Amino acid sequence: MAPHREGSEASVEAMVAQVEKHPISTILIIIAMQTEALPVVNKFQLIENPHSSFPKGVPWIHYHGAYKDITINLIWPGKDLTFGVDSVGTISASLVTYASIQALQPDLIINAGTAGGFKEKGAAIGDVFLVSHVAFHDRRIPIPVFDLYGVGLRQTYSTPNLLKALNLKTGKLSTGDSLDMSPHDEASIAANDATVKDMEGAAVAYVAELLKVPAIFVKAVTDIVDGEKPTAEEFLQNLAAVTATLEEVVTQVIDFISGKCLPEL
Ligand code: ADE
Repeated sequence: MAPHREGSEASVEAMVAQVEKHPISTILIIIAMQTEALPVVNKFQLIENPHSSFPKGVPWIHYHGAYKDITINLIWPGKDLTFGVDSVGTISASLVTYASIQALQPDLIINAGTAGGFKEKGAAIGDVFLVSHVAFHDRRIPIPVFDLYGVGLRQTYSTPNLLKALNLKTGKLSTGDSLDMSPHDEASIAANDATVKDMEGAAVAYVAELLKVPAIFVKAVTDIVDGEKPTAEEFLQNLAAVTATLEEVVTQVIDFISGKCLPEL
């Protein structure tokens, strides 16, 4: 006999199955830096929504538009109100992911952006990775189980057909709130088995999981962390060229997604 299930549990499952059978219609792209976001905004001729449902006064920018059968929403957390620079890092990423899911109810999240890469793990400048797992490297809590919570290892939404069709590299992503890498971070990144390192991914994944929205992570390498050059210098040097590549791959991802249901990805 089938185990008894609460009616609401069964109907949630039925709803999920129903949603998964429908072509993806609304996507949410989260991009931390203006330089990374604008090529995508321009490519899809997205326009800024002056009536976004975000709280009054926050710097978060909602761009939107239609492409083929998809409503594209792109959220850029904007410039920090105090310091005037892009609101990079996990705090802004979590906040905008939460607020955007609440407002837009996307079928799929794409967190796109730049990352540092480890040449020892096969990364090179300009490579674009479709991330398999995310984890944090700067949340050290040496108490049983809290240690695992701190690391927050999560598998991303599995998209084997997308990975194959676009012939992208894949690897694990480690997230922390610093562009540089302290010796402590280095040890944690190695323990996370990461090929790429960013400042938002694991935070976006945390919120996406909380609100049960599938999320994928497209990360383009601007700097080689285990190389000779200072990270900030190499990052700034390669930013323009790599963001152009990032836009091309995000476009290919959206083209692939168009007309497909989640399980087909
Ligand atoms: N984004 C681009 N390069 C990065 C790095 N080295 N660390 C974190 N985020 C990055």
